[in-house]
Amino acid sequence: MFITFEGPEGSGKTSIANRIIKTLIDKGYDIVHTREPGGTPIAEQIRDVTLDKKNTALDARAEALLIAASRRQHVVEKIRPALAEGKIVICDRYLDSSLAYQGAARGLGIDTVLAINLFAVEDTLPNLTLLFDLEPAIGFERIKANKNREVNRLDLEERNFYIKVRNAYLELSKKYKDRYRIIDASQSFEKVYEDTLKVILEYLPQK
Ligand code: TMP
Repeated sequence: MFITFEGPEGSGKTSIANRIIKTLIDKGYDIVHTREPGGTPIAEQIRDVTLDKKNTALDARAEALLIAASRRQHVVEKIRPALAEGKIVICDRYLDSSLAYQGAARGLGIDTVLAINLFAVEDTLPNLTLLFDLEPAIGFERIKANKNREVNRLDLEERNFYIKVRNAYLELSKKYKDRYRIIDASQSFEKVYEDTLKVILEYLPQK
């Protein structure tokens, strides 16, 4: 079982993932928790280049290719071996982030970005994708309020970029409706956690 968490900045998906994973481990599930871009030493090095605020000259196609390369490394070194051992992999962002950010918001085209990513991942696709959906304005407020959050290169984008990201995710949730579940991330942390756990437990074998 390969589960991905998707959504905009400020949607709380990472905090929710941490809490959900603790609950699932307590219930006896064998979980690998990972993230993108990154997840292995090589992929994390590519993440650093991609998200470095100083790299303002990074070209949009180069950005898409770097992220796809880091994804390839992550899939080969970590995701596939874990799935082959029967583990449940929960990944904070995956291929759909590239479709939304590089494909739609950067304007490279969803199909073009899908093609380079299919070259990278081959048949390693998520069984379940949770979209933590949030109005961009609320996400912005949350990011501004969180002084501890590290600002990355993509955080410097204009508001319009995030509106495009949100719309793209909603489109993707229709295109891939069999694997997508939408979680209303504007609710309280507790409620988002409960909704997320319910969806995931419906998918997992009973413990
Ligand atoms: P994070 O803040 O969730 O760790 O994500 C890091 C940033 O990387 C975030 O702004 C989204 C961006 N990103 C892409 O643009 N494309 C991708 O494929 C991934 C995985 C992340």
